[in-house]
Amino acid sequence: MTHEPHIPPAHFHIFTPCYDVLNEVLGLGRSFRRVVIETLALKGNECVLDAGCGTGSLLADLLATHPNIRLSGADPDTAALAIARRKLQGDIERVKVIKAPMDRLPFADASFDVVVSTLTFHHIPVERKSASLAECRRLLRPGGRILLADFGPDRARFFSRVALGFLNIFESISDNTRLPNLLAEAGFAQIRLVGRVHLTVMHTGLRGETRPT
Ligand SMILES: C[S@@+](CC[C@H](N)C(=O)[O-])C[C@H]1O[C@@H](n2cnc3c(N)ncnc32)[C@H](O)[C@@H]1O
Repeated sequence: MTHEPHIPPAHFHIFTPCYDVLNEVLGLGRSFRRVVIETLALKGNECVLDAGCGTGSLLADLLATHPNIRLSGADPDTAALAIARRKLQGDIERVKVIKAPMDRLPFADASFDVVVSTLTFHHIPVERKSASLAECRRLLRPGGRILLADFGPDRARFFSRVALGFLNIFESISDNTRLPNLLAEAGFAQIRLVGRVHLTVMHTGLRGETRPT
């Protein structure tokens, strides 16, 4: 399978080995993932996909907190996936980690209960965002849900707007203000803003009955 170029975890390939440390320093490491996992409120036996899993930290934390979960992760970045596989070494037979972008995930229709994606949506080119969300919907079982956590401006905070304005020079963050609409257009229902951590916002949605047109 050939893949188009993509934006790697820390924007430049050379920084991929530092990605986890950088995230920790920015407050988007362990404490951020704890909030994501709490917000997911899993029963513990679901089939879960981390779309844009990067270096696999969320996969590792999900496995540690939910030992009976059935877990898959996908990301287009070879170096990030190598770090993820090292991190999951002891559990690699319990997690399927594959190289794939979010708009071409090689899984059967309706094969997951939950799709989660953190800090990835702003890495996806604008023209592929809708197809990526539609692909996530395709993979969800009826009643399945998505949780997307990504940068989003807190309009009340000047610092948040300045910081995200700067980041937007490099990656397509401003598009995230359209996230609820994009989720609806991709066939999700009951879309909710369920939390904020630092500069990120978290949205959830249920797989709606109507396929996107
Ligand atoms: C900032 S990292 C986030 C990684 C991880 N989810 C986390 O929270 O640490 C963004 C990830 O998006 C991945 N990515 C870039 N383009 C993508 C695409 N089209 N589909 C899925 N993932 C993509 C990058 O390879 C990178 O691992």
